[in-house]
Amino acid sequence: MTETVPGTRSESRRDSKAGRDDLAGKQTLNLAGAFPRGDKVIVQPNRSELADTAAGMVAAASLISIELRGAFNVALAGGSTPGPVYERLATVPDIDWKRWRIFWSDERCVSPEHADSNYRMVRETLLDRLPLAPGLVARMPGELPPERAANSYEETIRENVSSDGTGIPRFDLILLGMGDDGHTASLFPGSQVLKENDRLVAADYVNKFDAYRLTFTYPLINAGRHVLVLVSGASKAATLNAVLTGPRQPGALPVQGVQPTTGQFRWIVDADAAQNIDR
Ligand code: 6PG
Repeated sequence: MTETVPGTRSESRRDSKAGRDDLAGKQTLNLAGAFPRGDKVIVQPNRSELADTAAGMVAAASLISIELRGAFNVALAGGSTPGPVYERLATVPDIDWKRWRIFWSDERCVSPEHADSNYRMVRETLLDRLPLAPGLVARMPGELPPERAANSYEETIRENVSSDGTGIPRFDLILLGMGDDGHTASLFPGSQVLKENDRLVAADYVNKFDAYRLTFTYPLINAGRHVLVLVSGASKAATLNAVLTGPRQPGALPVQGVQPTTGQFRWIVDADAAQNIDR
């Protein structure tokens, strides 16, 4: 069984005839081969259809992983964009939830009941709505001292996610988002954590939030079998264009450091976020 997730076959539109109005969301655009670094971008007309597509792709990836490896190790994203995706996922029929092993790609250093908790967001939009409990729900312990939280979560991942002999645990799917500043997970511009090559999970103090965050590092993200980045909204349009078509500068635009070694990488964005893409 091939491990290509449906919906990612590249119906590339290299021709410039595909003017802006296409991006204004009348149809799904699958932009493959149009970008200097080979990024593959699926543009959906709006946030709702982005959520449908993403939920469909996550569900499909779970079926493939369970078929091939008996389980689906998935790391979920925080923030506001993925909420509707999780709500859709909870309604997908015939998902073998007990084979799902759910992790988080980043977390705020707060308790699991806190309004800012990514765990809480996923609990309310997905876990509380499932017909039966997933095989494993391994949240990041945001309430612990940050360094201890990062170390214990790395241990949890190494104990539960196999590395296929590569030494780095390989998630079947990692969901990420992108901030207006080009951050992803909790990898922020100018952070020392961007240079991390050994640790899989790190704690980082983020000035603009005057708070600590816990995050997957690049080695763990780039070992993923499938990595999906979800981007929605006009406030991200300039950054998304710079990320896809501008020079490579992951120190300033950390999401550019997401380059899976052997895995599949896709962007699913809405027309508002894609409106500035130069092609
Ligand atoms: C978080 C996220 C973060 C998020 C981006 C985009 O904990 O905030 O994991 O990386 O994906 O900030 O956030 P929105 O989806 O809210 O725009």
